[in-house]
Amino acid sequence: MATDPAAVPPSPAPRLVDQQLRTRAQRVIPGGMYGHMSTALLPGNYPQFFSHARGAHVFDADGNRYLDLMCAYGPNLFGYGHESIDRAFTQQLARGDLAPGPSPLMVDLAEQLVALIAHARWAMFCKNGTDATTMALMVARAHTNRRIVIRCAGSYHGSAPWCTPIARGTLPEDRAHQLSCTYNDTASLQTALDAAGDDLAAVIVTPYRHDAFRDQAAIERDFAQQLRAACNLRGAVLILDEVRAGLRLQRDTSWSVLGVEPDLSCWGKALANGHPLSALLGGERLRAAASSIYVTGSFWYAAAPMAAALETLRLVRDSHYLEQLEHLGERLRHGLAAAAHRHGFEFRQTGPVQMPLFLFADDPDLRLGFGWCSEMLDRGIYVHPWHNMFLCAAMTAADIDAAVEAADGAFAALNRARPGLEPHPGIKALMSSR
Ligand SMILES: Cc1ncc(COP(=O)(O)O)c(C=O)c1O
Repeated sequence: MATDPAAVPPSPAPRLVDQQLRTRAQRVIPGGMYGHMSTALLPGNYPQFFSHARGAHVFDADGNRYLDLMCAYGPNLFGYGHESIDRAFTQQLARGDLAPGPSPLMVDLAEQLVALIAHARWAMFCKNGTDATTMALMVARAHTNRRIVIRCAGSYHGSAPWCTPIARGTLPEDRAHQLSCTYNDTASLQTALDAAGDDLAAVIVTPYRHDAFRDQAAIERDFAQQLRAACNLRGAVLILDEVRAGLRLQRDTSWSVLGVEPDLSCWGKALANGHPLSALLGGERLRAAASSIYVTGSFWYAAAPMAAALETLRLVRDSHYLEQLEHLGERLRHGLAAAAHRHGFEFRQTGPVQMPLFLFADDPDLRLGFGWCSEMLDRGIYVHPWHNMFLCAAMTAADIDAAVEAADGAFAALNRARPGLEPHPGIKALMSSR
């Protein structure tokens, strides 16, 4: 696998179209771009705009092709433009997407989810993960008639005023009645439970710790069991936020291997392999509360994404995609570890192999990570310097080997560039404010 460390990657096409689009965007889009798809906190050579995507690859607006280890931040599970999923989508689009009521597919999809996800007895559909997490809190509060929600500091649950990680534009009142604890820390959970007293409506938690900017961490069984026991004892609701990890780790909730069932689970991203759909699933105990709240949206009942989700779930059940993701993920992890070692880097790879996050040791302002990602991009591999990544089932062993080969060159180039590396100004400011 080792390549000539001095090898210079083939130059990508200059990103002139991207530059022009950025200039135009500055005029008509606030800040030029916003949210998680802004390149503001990515290395300078990252393209902002992509013209198309196919399988495991994306093409920037200038025609450069990349193996995409971000999978659109998760939705791409089986490959961009997947044939049977997109056929289901387009056929339903041709038959009809919106109407004054949902299509029969909504019932089919709810039945399929209830059959697949062990704790679920009902499903409600919406568009984004934030819709599902927000609805989960409403159901929990409607069920308990209580106010307080405990969440883990640093965990992302969406961008509504109650949970957006940057509070600007929101009110303290938007976050009223929230307490925080530390992921996997039973003592801090107990402190939050004590503070909540008899006003605890819910605890919302991600299936493992996948916060940005830090190593990922598996859920500890004791912590999950303590959450379940505490919610049982107090009549509170345990909400599992599967929006990011859902369907990539298990064919059920990610906690099915722990034997800990939530009361509510939130799904999105990969549910329809990139078509816009999210869902809230719940157990029998929450059915009445779920029927009592008023939640809706003009596009929530659209039939075509539901057709795509039905086909996605068929593939989840009937294909070996999960085993393939694990196999590819192991191959990537071992290949990168060996390449990093060869070039003398302590390269931390954390989280499940199909959702890896890469950080360099002794890299507090991420200058090494940024330098390496930038080199990877120039070698046709799109990786992220501080967010977890995602594998998809359209990737092949040859794709993974190409990523490892690129990494070998990127580590070598990083060694050469190391003395002159500077931190990204935005990251430097962010890290020093934490
Ligand atoms: C764990 C988790 N919950 C909720 C959300 C919000 O999902 P969406 O961006 O679809 O609103 C995300 C998005 O990244 C997420 O990772």
